[in-house]
Amino acid sequence: MIHALRGMKDLIFDDARRYEYIIQTLSRIARNYGFEYIETPILEETRLFKRSVGESSDIVGKEMYQFTDKGGNDVCLRPEGTAGVVRAFVQAKLDRQQGQKYRFFYHGPMFRYERPQKGRLREFHQFGVESFGEKSVEEDFTLIVMLAEIFEALGIRTRVKINSLGCTVCMPPYRQRLVGYLEAIAQELCPDCQRRIATNPIRVLDCKNEQCQNLLEEAPKLSQELCEECDRDFTRLQKLLTDAGIAYEVDTHLVRGLDYYSGAAFEFVSDEIGAQSAVAGGGRYDRLVEFLEGRPTPGVGFAIGIERIMELVRMPQERREGWYLGAMTPEALDRLLPLARQLRRSHRVVVEYAPKGLKAHLKGADKANARYCAVIGEEELSKEHIWIKDLEAREEKTVPLKELEEIEAQ
Ligand code: HAM
Repeated sequence: MIHALRGMKDLIFDDARRYEYIIQTLSRIARNYGFEYIETPILEETRLFKRSVGESSDIVGKEMYQFTDKGGNDVCLRPEGTAGVVRAFVQAKLDRQQGQKYRFFYHGPMFRYERPQKGRLREFHQFGVESFGEKSVEEDFTLIVMLAEIFEALGIRTRVKINSLGCTVCMPPYRQRLVGYLEAIAQELCPDCQRRIATNPIRVLDCKNEQCQNLLEEAPKLSQELCEECDRDFTRLQKLLTDAGIAYEVDTHLVRGLDYYSGAAFEFVSDEIGAQSAVAGGGRYDRLVEFLEGRPTPGVGFAIGIERIMELVRMPQERREGWYLGAMTPEALDRLLPLARQLRRSHRVVVEYAPKGLKAHLKGADKANARYCAVIGEEELSKEHIWIKDLEAREEKTVPLKELEEIEAQ
């Protein structure tokens, strides 16, 4: 038997229903916040991710599904959605419409060659949003509010962590001070962190190693060294969240694993799903459009990991829906087929093609989760009638076929 690849999963039955429900709910909320749907290719040029997510990130450095295609192009399966949306934004020349705001949402598979474990897959799905052209911190606030609303709608309890990653004014001197601090304790850090001092010192802050974390307690904190503008924005973001009644923690070690961030960064975590607790992450990326050769345009966005929230989602009670049509004779089936076509214009209809007795059809209707079981036997056919049972109200009746052909959506 051929199995799905390690770290990749089928979505089937309950998982598929949950996935569909999540996407529908999130799409509705995203539209309410003024976002519109965008779809970008799953395969992109490798250099797109090198330039945006960053060569020193684990995602690009270690985890890409990268290969040379038959035309000799260096390509890879997207590890995340932001880079592709920004590329599409620049390609559509939307960066030239200065002053305009563009808000997009997307969902689909992402690929990272990580070590699979609970909550960490090699193919996983994200629902994300990206907002372009809005520099105000109110937009950062709105995206956090939106995430809070999303998790509330899905019945999921989360904690909100925020941080500021500064800008080109305050980040470089901070990085230098941090490197000075890290070099002094380098001997005691884990090998990964030792390597990162030179490649990506900021990432050292969110190392999961306990000894590293203890050593980092005294490390300089960017939140205390922000420039005036970043500090003003970060303070305002906190005030807006407090006023809106959204509880948050400032986590000075929240740095995110992608290099394109600046300014506000945030993560939503769940305490109910084990070690891989981040259910959503995002932040500002005011320089990313430039990195991809567009005109400077501020941006901010987030992505939710669908698999991580799947089992936490409180689903609405499933209700019986639509019709099950069955025939007791081959002639009756011939009469059912045009009826099914008619009903399907506005109803869910499942047709059983094999002629069977009433009891077997009722069983079939129950299994198909239909609200109505409608059956035509020899006698009904001769009178142009059909027998119907409402499986919810537990009532049955025989009506002229014509009546059924004319029913309105209910
Ligand atoms: P990210 O934090 O790398 O951000 O991913 C967002 C979410 O995707 C995570 O919080 C997690 O729930 C889920 N996720 C990540 N890796 C895996 C995995 N291997 N298996 C299962 N779930 C996973 C981004 O991707 C950014 N593009 C978010 C963003 C959008 N920032 C601005 N705009």
